[in-house]
Parts: sequence; C-alpha cells; structure tokens
Amino acid sequence: MPTLAVLFSAVGPTAPDATASAPEGSAPPTPVPVSPQGGVLLSRADNERVAHLVATALRERGHAVHVLGVWAGVPVERLRNVDAVVNLLEGLEGDSSREAEATEALQRAGIPFSGNAADTLGRCQRKEVCRRLLLEAGVPVPAGTVLHAVPMEWPAGVPAPVIVKPAHEDASEGIDARAVARDLAGLQAAVRRVVVEMGQPALVEQFIDGREITASLLGSPPQVLPLGEIDFSTLPAGRPRIVSYAAKWCPESDEYQCTPSVGARLDATVTARIETIARRAAAALKLRDVARLDLRVDARGGAWVIDVNPNCDLAPDAGFAKAAARAGLSYGEMLDRVVARAVAARPDRRAAASA
Ligand SMILES: Nc1ncnc2c1ncn2[C@@H]1O[C@H](COP(=O)(O)OP(=O)(O)O)[C@@H](O)[C@H]1O
Ligand SMILES: [Mg+2]
Repeated sequence: MPTLAVLFSAVGPTAPDATASAPEGSAPPTPVPVSPQGGVLLSRADNERVAHLVATALRERGHAVHVLGVWAGVPVERLRNVDAVVNLLEGLEGDSSREAEATEALQRAGIPFSGNAADTLGRCQRKEVCRRLLLEAGVPVPAGTVLHAVPMEWPAGVPAPVIVKPAHEDASEGIDARAVARDLAGLQAAVRRVVVEMGQPALVEQFIDGREITASLLGSPPQVLPLGEIDFSTLPAGRPRIVSYAAKWCPESDEYQCTPSVGARLDATVTARIETIARRAAAALKLRDVARLDLRVDARGGAWVIDVNPNCDLAPDAGFAKAAARAGLSYGEMLDRVVARAVAARPDRRAAASA
C-alpha cells in the first residue's frame, strides 16, 4: 500500500516549521498585498480544506495518507519515508510567485510528486512566456503585448477591446470589470492598476467576446476530459462576461452566483478543434497529471487559449473534478489517476533495502 503525503500551503508558520519567520515588511501599502518577488500574497485559505478532502478520498482508495502544511520551506527530511507526495502547494510564505520554487525542492530531493514539474509551473506563472511557447507550437492565443509602464498611445497590433491582466498572477487576481478597456483612458487606468498598484508587468490582450470553455487534462500522458463552460447567461446586463476575482472567490457576489461551470454543449467540429489545441498545448508546456486550459470561442467558432493552469484546483466542487465526473470518474478515481505516475515512479524500497 503506497504511503502518500498531501502537501498544502499553510496560511501561516505552523508545525513543522513553526520557527520560520513571517514575511515581515513584505506587503507594501497598496490595495493588493504583493510580495518582494512580485507575487500576490495568498489570501485564499481553502488549500487546507482541499488537502483534507483529497486525503480522505485517497484513503478510501486504499492509500495511507498524511497531510502536511508547508509555510517557509518543504520539509524534505520528513518526506523520506513516503512513496509519493500529492503536491497542492501554491507558493511559500503566502507568496504565490514561489510556487515553482516549492516544487523544485521536491525535485531536488528526488521525492516523486504528483502534478507538474517546476519548469512547467514557472513557465505558466509568466503569462508572456506561456503565450510565446503556445504560439511557437501553433496554439492560437489572442493578440497581445506586455507593458511595463502606462502607455501614451494604443499599443500597435492589439485591436480594441482589450483585457488587461497582471502578467504573473492567476486565480483572477486583479481582474474585475475595469480590466476590460475600449478606449485609451480605460486602458491607461487598467495598466496603471497592474503596474503601479500590483507592481507587475501588464498583459494587454485582445478581448475575445464569446463563450468561455475549460479543457481539463488528466493523467500522464494527459487525457482531455469532457469540456466545461462558464455559463454567463444569468449575468446582469452590462456586466462584462468575464470570470472576475469576485466570480472566483466571493460566494456572496452575483458575479460568483451567475458564472457557474457547466458541461459544454458545442458542435463536434469545435469540440474536436479544442481537443486538438489542448493536446498541442499540453505537449508544448509538458503538462502532466492535472491541468486546466481556459479558452474563448469566438463567433466564427475559432478557439483561443487565454490561460493555462497547471496544478489547478482539485476541490470536489471545482471545474476539474466536475469534468472528471462528466467522464464517469468518481472523485477518488480521478485522484488515483492524478497520483498514478508519481506512485509508479517511487523508488523500490525493497530493492534499496536488500542492496
Ligand atoms: N483574451 C481574453 N478575452 C476574453 N476574456 C478574457 C481574456 N483573458 C482573460 N479573460 C477573462 O478573464 C478571466 C481571468 O483571466 P485569466 O487569463 O484566466 O487569468 P487567471 O490566470 O487570473 O485565471 C478569464 O477567465 C476570462 O473570463
Ligand atoms: Mg484563468
């Protein structure tokens, strides 16, 4: 029976590294707390809840499972006796920009872990790098450019309207109705918020006004699960059809309540097109075990990748688990496939002991 350790990002220094210091002075006085590395400080304490749900489901599948909160650093010595780690880490010391660093510690220690390699996490954390790799692989991405300062004129090659996103963030941090700009004044204000207030480069991307589709990739090699869609149909008129920060994280907001994730009903041609794009993106970014692509489909049926989320949320109520359920997989069956590669990669302890 494999022994697994589920690692999650704790919201403060707790055991085992209770002596670790809090990131003192790391949050400047801006509306969005930003770390010295430029990442938004994690404020979503959901990671621990998910870790316990994952552990319970994997125990029901016959694994022995520990759950471990991580704050300042990955306690690799405590993981020597586990067969594999279920990596739910989203950063270190509350800093989302350190997600790849946390995973690299597992790699360096030679501990098999589920989810994506540090390289892949690092590439996807930088939207401009991710976009370039996708483009090189022939995956359609909307026209876009990265700005480091507030522009004096409209950027060439990016038709209006646009959406302005922090280039190194995920989880819709910094994205609300003001992120969609149709004129220069709106663009300047949106870029100012990202560059000045969040301390990050701003990705200005053509706004694709269409359906939003999610493609979940499970296992290694990745299988494209039945597509999901964000249903914007009940969103009050006048609201941009986007998955804003509130839509993801504020259950009391109408943005949250009016953007449910449902099964996508697309014609066969568009479905096939998106599946091909998803497989190509997975190869280009070396995605494995678990990942979700966000796409937009325009009026002509053209599909555009707007975001890649390796190690996306594994909560039972999140889009990934819903997609697995559409494929007929229970939560536990889905998790078994997420961890299968790492479990198979575990060193043979009996061989090591008898050597
Ligand atoms: N190019 C785009 N066209 C239309 N909507 C977009 C575009 N880029 C982002 N969005 C909207 O903004 C949301 C968040 O953007 P995304 O790139 O997925 O960032 P995050 O990494 O924060 O999830 C998306 O789910 C989508 O609703
Ligand atoms: Mg996204």
